[in-house]
Amino acid sequence: MEMKQRNEKIAMLTAYDYSMASIIDAAGIDIILVGDSASNVMAGHETTLPITLNQMIYHASSVVRAVNRSLVVVDIPFGSYQGNSKEALSSAIRIMKESGGHAVKMEGGAEIKESIERILSAGIPVMGHLGLTPQSIYKFGTYSVRAKEKAEADQLIKDAKMLEETGCFALVLEKIPASLAKHVAEHVSIPVIGIGAGPDVDGQVLVVHDMLGINNDFHPRFLRKYANLHQEMTKAVGNYIDDVKGMNFPNEAESY
Ligand code: KIV
Repeated sequence: MEMKQRNEKIAMLTAYDYSMASIIDAAGIDIILVGDSASNVMAGHETTLPITLNQMIYHASSVVRAVNRSLVVVDIPFGSYQGNSKEALSSAIRIMKESGGHAVKMEGGAEIKESIERILSAGIPVMGHLGLTPQSIYKFGTYSVRAKEKAEADQLIKDAKMLEETGCFALVLEKIPASLAKHVAEHVSIPVIGIGAGPDVDGQVLVVHDMLGINNDFHPRFLRKYANLHQEMTKAVGNYIDDVKGMNFPNEAESY
């Protein structure tokens, strides 16, 4: 909230394991999101739906052990909060107790208000998530840009206001028109973190495997690749294979 007030942008990345989280935390990231995108990039599932609460807690506790300074936000996975606010609270409590994360993130608007209220009443900070919400992918049918039509944009603005008024401390907007994201960021006091939501929001988030170019087959327009680790790692592994097969590894200095 203070960063938003002083117009300092918030940098957020995902992480799911100790080694990656150590690097990102030491590099100075503001927020680490233990996203349910772990279902895609760590487990190879097509959607975020299969990942379980236990698996999210495992990923989050690995991240928390690595972190010295960042805020750690953990996604509550599909099936552990929708439609049942008591279950939502017990899922959020398990995440906080068993992983040591600092806050939870939940996808949705009016339909999950009761769950958000119950979680907030237990003193657990909640980050909202509107726009393209991948846990509802089978409702949308595609991963294309959301809220291009007026009715959906109006509902999104209403939901963003509701999340602010209910007490969420921040909000992710995924894959919506930049003008709509700008409007939301200007009309709520809580920080708005965008992914595919243009530049006029209070911060940005990317999936770390995408921005490091580890993931080779995902090229949405919003993604900027800051490295090509897929190529680098393939080359390194190839060199290792050549050295082993050519009896160049280990050499004398690498032997006892
Ligand atoms: O799970 C995730 O990585 C996310 C981000 C894309 C915002 O929710």
